[in-house]
Amino acid sequence: MDSGIAAEQQESSFHDRAHRLLASKTSLIWVVTWEEARLETQLGRLADHTFKKPIPLLVWSATTGLVDRRDNQVFAGTESPRSALDAVLRIETTVIVLLEDLHPFLTDPLVVRRLREVSRSLDAGYSSIFVSAPDLHVPRDLEKAVAVLELELPGPEELGSVLQRQLDGSPGTHLAEPELGSALVRAAAGLTEDEARRAFARLLLNKTEVTAENLSEIYEEKRQIIRKSGILDFVPPRGGLDQVGGLANLKKWLQMRKRFFGRQARNAGITMPKGVLLTGVSGCGKSLSVQAISSFWQLPMVRLDMNRVYGAPGGPEEGLQRAIETAEAVSPCILWIDEIETAIVGMSGDPTGLATRIFSSFLTWMQEKTKIVFVAATANEIHMLPPELLRKGRFDEIFFVDLPSEQERTDIFTVHLRKRGHHPEDFPIVNLAKSTGNFTGAEIENVVVSALYRAFGEDRSPDGDDLYWAVGQTIPLATTMAEKIKEIRRWADQRAIRAS
Ligand SMILES: Nc1ncnc2c1ncn2[C@@H]1O[C@H](COP(=O)(O)OP(=O)(O)OP(=O)(O)O)[C@@H](O)[C@H]1O
Ligand SMILES: [Mg+2]
Repeated sequence: MDSGIAAEQQESSFHDRAHRLLASKTSLIWVVTWEEARLETQLGRLADHTFKKPIPLLVWSATTGLVDRRDNQVFAGTESPRSALDAVLRIETTVIVLLEDLHPFLTDPLVVRRLREVSRSLDAGYSSIFVSAPDLHVPRDLEKAVAVLELELPGPEELGSVLQRQLDGSPGTHLAEPELGSALVRAAAGLTEDEARRAFARLLLNKTEVTAENLSEIYEEKRQIIRKSGILDFVPPRGGLDQVGGLANLKKWLQMRKRFFGRQARNAGITMPKGVLLTGVSGCGKSLSVQAISSFWQLPMVRLDMNRVYGAPGGPEEGLQRAIETAEAVSPCILWIDEIETAIVGMSGDPTGLATRIFSSFLTWMQEKTKIVFVAATANEIHMLPPELLRKGRFDEIFFVDLPSEQERTDIFTVHLRKRGHHPEDFPIVNLAKSTGNFTGAEIENVVVSALYRAFGEDRSPDGDDLYWAVGQTIPLATTMAEKIKEIRRWADQRAIRAS
């Protein structure tokens, strides 16, 4: 299934990398994953195809002991890790061994010792031991002896076959159009195989036809799962760029980079855009524009809440780490950090240096990340932004979003009238734009909303007078904050380019 944009993100698959390790006689391999069943399937494939002849895959867990996966034959008396390792040592042919859930036993120095000995004695041949664990807490004594592999979340191809199997199993249900398949696969990016299977199964349940409307069910599933990570929120795509009035420069910039996320660009070795920072006057569409990027680029978006990073149970460092891992797992994606300055608040009053440390690990990650996680940040209190954040190489561009021009105000009226089912041509929007100098986008939206309310309350269709009335009711914030806006503009003049 070709889902275009959500192409494989890693140059080589787990299979290829594991194959290389086996071929080079690596005897101890640590695999970071939550997905034991999927790992078993992958290793089964390696056991079948790496060597001239298929070799056995033996799987150990503390409850079952060592089991030969081909015939489910159990090696008696191998429930303890040491007895299992002893049994492995006695096998003379080439095998792949998967030890599931070994990590709780690795606090026992004797188990660690035995594992090292067994792995060393396997070095001569092609047998190898895989240890699966949800994280990378390798005991120090083993660090030198293990190779580490990550079983990435399933890519579009694997998700595609999961979907296909579910469809095959539900003959009463079909997709309204074939392209929907890729859209579903894209929507499921970031789920484990199990999660995706459950999500698809629920989606197909009791339906004869799946339509684009149903995509939101997958997004909801994903939202729940990402929520469980505790730090990130999944933001379902809403309106596209057509919901944003004005900001032509920003739109052009986004338009030019849309292609970068396609498979071709990636294969051509094009450097991916890293991120964008939107600063500017409150209520003029910064957050709105960030949300529009997601649907415009057709990439999933997750939001990082810095307050949650600081409140994370394992401490902020672990919180940030987990957030980054989750975002990378959903890659390619957009990571939205709204009001990034709040992350840095109190840095001056930061006696322990914690905030500074968190922030600098974030910057380092931004600089060095290899996964496609496009950072879209917004900032209001620009004077709080440290120079490190603004340095070249961090964000590809810093945009300044000013109060909308007259033409832009016309566009914003158009957007909001249309959004509510009205024809902009029926209203004097050009003149309205003239009489709303200094209004923010949010205030124009409010004008439209109040005008519609008034007409509705009087049981008639809205007209120009309702809008003029609402304009008269509004005191634009910019009038009272003229000084502050001047200051923002001065700052932006030297550091940012205009979004309009
Ligand atoms: N350029 C615009 N086009 C269309 N609607 C807009 C525009 N700017 C603002 N709005 C409307 O105002 C609302 C608030 O804007 P938004 O939240 O994007 O502002 P912001 O720049 O992020 O402000 P803040 O700095 O206060 O967070 C939007 O949801 C949208 O409905
Ligand atoms: Mg905002």
